Amino acid sequence: MAQTKFHLGWFQDGFRAPAWNRRWSGTSTRDWQDGSFYLDMARSFERACFDYFMIEDNNYIPDVYGGSEAAYLKYGQRAPKHDPTALAAIMTQVTRRMGIVATVATSETTPFHLARLMSTLDHLSHGRIGWNVVTGSNDRAAQNFGQEQQEPHDKRYDMADEFVETVRALWSSWDEGAVVMDRESGIYVDHTKVHTIDHRGEHYASRGPLNTLRSPQGHPVLVQAGVSPRGRAFTARHSDSVIAAANNLDDMRDLRISIRGLAAEQGRNPDDVKILFLAQPMIGETEDDAQRKADVWMADEQRFLDFGLSTLASVTTVDFAQFDPDEPLPLGLTTNGHQGQLDNMVKSRKPLRELTTGVVVGSREAGFVGTAESVAERMAEAMDHVGGDGFLLTHFTPTRRYVDEICDGLVPALQDRGVVRTEYAHETFKENLLAF
Ligand SMILES: Cc1cc2nc3c(=O)[nH]c(=O)nc-3n(C[C@H](O)[C@H](O)[C@H](O)COP(=O)(O)O)c2cc1C
Repeated sequence: MAQTKFHLGWFQDGFRAPAWNRRWSGTSTRDWQDGSFYLDMARSFERACFDYFMIEDNNYIPDVYGGSEAAYLKYGQRAPKHDPTALAAIMTQVTRRMGIVATVATSETTPFHLARLMSTLDHLSHGRIGWNVVTGSNDRAAQNFGQEQQEPHDKRYDMADEFVETVRALWSSWDEGAVVMDRESGIYVDHTKVHTIDHRGEHYASRGPLNTLRSPQGHPVLVQAGVSPRGRAFTARHSDSVIAAANNLDDMRDLRISIRGLAAEQGRNPDDVKILFLAQPMIGETEDDAQRKADVWMADEQRFLDFGLSTLASVTTVDFAQFDPDEPLPLGLTTNGHQGQLDNMVKSRKPLRELTTGVVVGSREAGFVGTAESVAERMAEAMDHVGGDGFLLTHFTPTRRYVDEICDGLVPALQDRGVVRTEYAHETFKENLLAF
């Protein structure tokens, strides 16, 4: 019987059109635009006691695939995309316990602005905000922010180290207890508990203090997704949770050991870094029904070969239109974009065509296709093999039906096994994340 208690999150691939022309897309074609589709999702995932709802983001329309924006705009896959911090703000108003994580790139804002934004969102949510720290990786994004190109891969992480340290200093520029709100003495804030930070570093400068009060979590939750060697060093130093992509259960286990080891080297308790693995379960009424649904979905992705490849092209900045889709990618292929993801694709030695569904555990190999009960059993066994800490469920083109299958089918089956929570024990995101 599986033992390991684990966390669940949702990885939302952008504040964008979900399954707008697929089966069961319903009204989501239109009602994603005002956020209502995503608010429904947030309510569902909170009902299922998810740790967090994470919203991916990028600030550009890609033109990597075939050297054109055509495929990206045609499928509405990487664009159009709204700002995730605005969605996070309204999500805070329809949920009470679940964490909400918005992506913001360090190369596209300043430490002061980011610290103030997250602090404000932490107040709006009563302590449930997280920041997905990304560095930006595409030159088109750099060009939207006045640069010609992205900095080299490792330098971006060096800069992000300083960015995060500056943000943390700003968050700490208000001591606990600085807000007095004493009617008698007429003091709102004790000015002796609010400090400048006077940061003048290699890449950033900020005087401080922050002009918004200390947030309920003090330091909102930090999430990060890079798994290259430099990315792991960064995440081991700063992250409370890691978005991890791996090809199979052994790779998941090895990646977790590696990140926990690096965190310990930084003097951190490895249990304070929750590594959540991307997975895409497919739930059916019966095993056959689930297999048939997985077949239909795969067939869709194959039909839209350029849909899948263009998506991967935009994040890895490799133009996959130049390769034979029936061959594996050439060994030694490298990038200044997402290195970890490209390495996983090359390492898999699968024909490119089979990689169009993305590198998520959820495929048949992991056995996450079946009835709610059988998938729950295999997910629990998988976590025992990996050692923890949980899954970040995702779907490229989610529908309300898919979300219900997860929240009212899979999750209750996991709860019956005692491997996921049945209620939130704490008020803040970080407390719930660190509770087990
Ligand atoms: C699953 C996953 C999700 C990511 N989400 C985002 C995102 O929302 N926005 C972004 O700019 N980068 C995103 N990234 C990129 C990472 O933050 C990082 O910049 C990139 O993976 C390069 O890191 P690496 O080379 O260390 O693997 C994501 C990467 C992965 C693997």
